[in-house]
Amino acid sequence: MERVPEPELMDEPVQALAYARADFDEPNTLFVQLLEGRFPGYTPRGVLDLGCGPADIPLRLAQRWPQAQVFAVDGAEAMLRLAHEAIRAAGLESRVHCVRWHLGREPMPEVLAGTSIDVCISNSLLHHLREPAALWEVLAKLPRGTAVAVMDLMRPPDMDRARAIVQTYAGEEPEVLRRDFLHSLCAAYRPGEVRQQLRRSGLGHLQVEVVSDRHMLVSGRR
Ligand SMILES: C[S@@+](CC[C@H](N)C(=O)[O-])C[C@H]1O[C@@H](n2cnc3c(N)ncnc32)[C@H](O)[C@@H]1O
Repeated sequence: MERVPEPELMDEPVQALAYARADFDEPNTLFVQLLEGRFPGYTPRGVLDLGCGPADIPLRLAQRWPQAQVFAVDGAEAMLRLAHEAIRAAGLESRVHCVRWHLGREPMPEVLAGTSIDVCISNSLLHHLREPAALWEVLAKLPRGTAVAVMDLMRPPDMDRARAIVQTYAGEEPEVLRRDFLHSLCAAYRPGEVRQQLRRSGLGHLQVEVVSDRHMLVSGRR
């Protein structure tokens, strides 16, 4: 199946709300477990999450690492509003900071340029990007030694498999979410394509592994 790109930002309020209300406990728990498994005992002071959506993962990491400042970046205002609500509800406004940044279109915001980041993560951003280098270029500019964990969907071999995945994992979700999930699977890259992207961006040493029936993980040290 050829890749079919989808819109980058999730900026429609209905779409952002459906995403924020959906249950992503399983993949988000998997992501945090994989991060801890790849960097055991790590106690970062600065965490950067690229394409944070409603900030579920930044909140989990802020709770896990009470010494850390977490910077939750997204290009979509609608999503950042929901992220900010969740951060306020968790009482973590002093440590989880929302930053609007459209990667690939805008330079890194000043507020991030002055921070010290020792972990950079991203979940389910890569498949949104028309030009995947927009993500890898940010990682390539991080200080050497920064821990990196990027998880994303993998494009299934055909539409039947894509529809079956949507049915299995989002069969009970609203139509807008099932539609977005199907589009995301069709827009996702494959592990071999990601390895090529990494080599082109000077990040060929990062490891790419399949970690579920629909996810891959890129990890290692910058
Ligand atoms: C599928 S959501 C993933 C959200 C979150 N990371 C999670 O795991 O639930 C992808 C997010 O990336 C954002 N996004 C897409 N392209 C972007 C870009 N070029 N720059 C910044 N954010 C982007 C979207 O607005 C959306 O909130």
